[in-house]
Amino acid sequence: VHLSSLDNMRMCLKRHVLPDPVLGVRAPLRVLDVGGADVNGSYRTVFAGLEVDYVVVDLEPGDHVDAVPGAGGRLPFDDESFDLVISGQTFEHAGTFWQTYLEMVRVGREDGLIIVIVPSAGPEHRYPVDCYRFLPDSLVALARLGGTHLIDSWRDPLGPFHDLVGVYRRTPPDPERPTGAPVIDSFEPLQNDYPSNTSDDVEHGAGDETCWSLLERVHEVFEPRFYLEIGVSHGSSLRLARCPALGIDPAPVLVDPLPEHHRISRMTSDDFFSFAEVASEIGPLDLAYIDGMHQVENVLKDFLHLERVCHPASVILIDDIFPAHPVQAQRERASRFWTGDVWKILPILRGARPDLILLPLDTWPCGTLLVAGLDADSDVLWERFDMLVSFALDLMSDVHPEIIQREGALDPSDPLVTRMLRLLRDARLDDDPTPRLAGVRRLLGGAMPRRVAPIS
Ligand SMILES: C[S@@+](CC[C@H](N)C(=O)[O-])C[C@H]1O[C@@H](n2cnc3c(N)ncnc32)[C@H](O)[C@@H]1O
Repeated sequence: VHLSSLDNMRMCLKRHVLPDPVLGVRAPLRVLDVGGADVNGSYRTVFAGLEVDYVVVDLEPGDHVDAVPGAGGRLPFDDESFDLVISGQTFEHAGTFWQTYLEMVRVGREDGLIIVIVPSAGPEHRYPVDCYRFLPDSLVALARLGGTHLIDSWRDPLGPFHDLVGVYRRTPPDPERPTGAPVIDSFEPLQNDYPSNTSDDVEHGAGDETCWSLLERVHEVFEPRFYLEIGVSHGSSLRLARCPALGIDPAPVLVDPLPEHHRISRMTSDDFFSFAEVASEIGPLDLAYIDGMHQVENVLKDFLHLERVCHPASVILIDDIFPAHPVQAQRERASRFWTGDVWKILPILRGARPDLILLPLDTWPCGTLLVAGLDADSDVLWERFDMLVSFALDLMSDVHPEIIQREGALDPSDPLVTRMLRLLRDARLDDDPTPRLAGVRRLLGGAMPRRVAPIS
C-alpha cells in the first residue's frame, strides 16, 4: 500500500469512524481488511493506538493473513460480523471485484461502514494481475449494486495512482443520528520524547550560526507580510516573526504567551491542510518554515501544500537537512538532536524540481534549506508523490557521508544570502517578478559553493 492510501484511510477514520456516535465508542472495533496482506505497508498501522480486533483476508495465506476466501470468493465469516469492512488497492487486482464488494456488504454490520479505496490512474503493477482503473461513477455503481449508500467520496490529488475513496453505509444516513465533526485530535506518533542516555558522540550539532539567528535575519531583511510555521514546540522560532504569524503543531509546549499577532493551530500539518479553511487562516504567504514531523514523507507533503499557497517570490525554509551523526538521521527517534530522514528532501527536490532555487545553509545545529523560485501551479511533485516517497524509503536508506559533511552548504552569514533575500523582497512588489528572480538565479549560478562548511 502506498503512503497516500494510508493517509486516505486515516482520513476516513477521522471523518467518519471516530465521530460516529456508535462506532466511535465501540471497543474493540471489529475491522475486516479485505486484500490486506502487508505489501509495503498495511492499513493496520493506521489503527494503531485504537482498540481494534483486526482481521485480514487475502488470496494466499501469509504473515498477518488470518483467512483466505472460500469457493466463489466467499468470505469465511458470518453475516454482519464486522463494524468496519475495508479494502484498498485490491479491487484493481480482483477479476470480479463486484463479487468481493457484495461479500463485504454481507459481512458488515447494519450500523457499520464499508470503505473502498481504488486507483483512478497509475502504472500497471501485477499482484498477480492488474485489471482495472476506476472513475468516480464506479463508486456510485458499487453503491447501487450492493444496495448501499455512498456517504462520502473523493479523488486524491496525489499521484501517480490518484486514488478514489468511497465510504458506504448499509442503511440510509439517519438524520436522527448525525455524524459528528471530524476528530482531529492527533493519534499519530509525534516522536517528541527521546532517550536520555545517548552518548555525547551522537548528541551534537555543527555549524556556527544558529538556525534561529538565520531566521531572525531573514525576518529583518525579507520583511515578510505573513509567516507560517509547521512545528512550533516551545515557540523559539515562531517568536522571531515580527509580522502576523500562524504556527501549526498538535502538541506545542509554549513557555510564555504569544504576542497578539501570532496564533497557533493545534493539529498536525496534514490535518490543517485537510480540515482548515487554509486561505482564510493565512495572509499573503511570503515566508514559511518547515520544522514539524522529521520524516521525509511529511516534509514533502508540507512542502507541496505550502507551495500551493505561495507566490513566485515567497521563500520556504526547511530545517534539519544535515544530521551531524547517522543516529540523528534515524526515522525512529533515538537521540535528542533528531533530524530523521529530512535530509532526503534535498536530493528529491534537486532531482524532481530543477526549476527551484535550492540553497543549503550550514546552520547550527542541523542545517537549513532555503527554497525560492516557487511555483504554486507546479504539479510535478503531486503527480510523482508516491513514487518519490517509495524511492526515498526503499532506496535511500543510509545517510550519505557527504550529507553529514554538509558538502556544498553555504555559510549562512555569506552576504549572498542577504542580497538574495533583498532581491526576493523587492520582487514581491514587481508586477512581473520574473526578471528579478532571474537575477537571483544569476547571483547564485557559479557562486556555489562559496565556502564549504568545515567539519566540526
Ligand atoms: C523541532 S520541534 C519545533 C521547534 C521550533 N520550530 C523551534 O525552532 O523552536 C518539532 C515540533 O513538531 C511538532 N510536530 C510533530 N509532528 C507534527 C506534524 N505532523 N505537524 C505539525 N507539527 C508536528 C512537534 O509537536 C514538535 O513540537
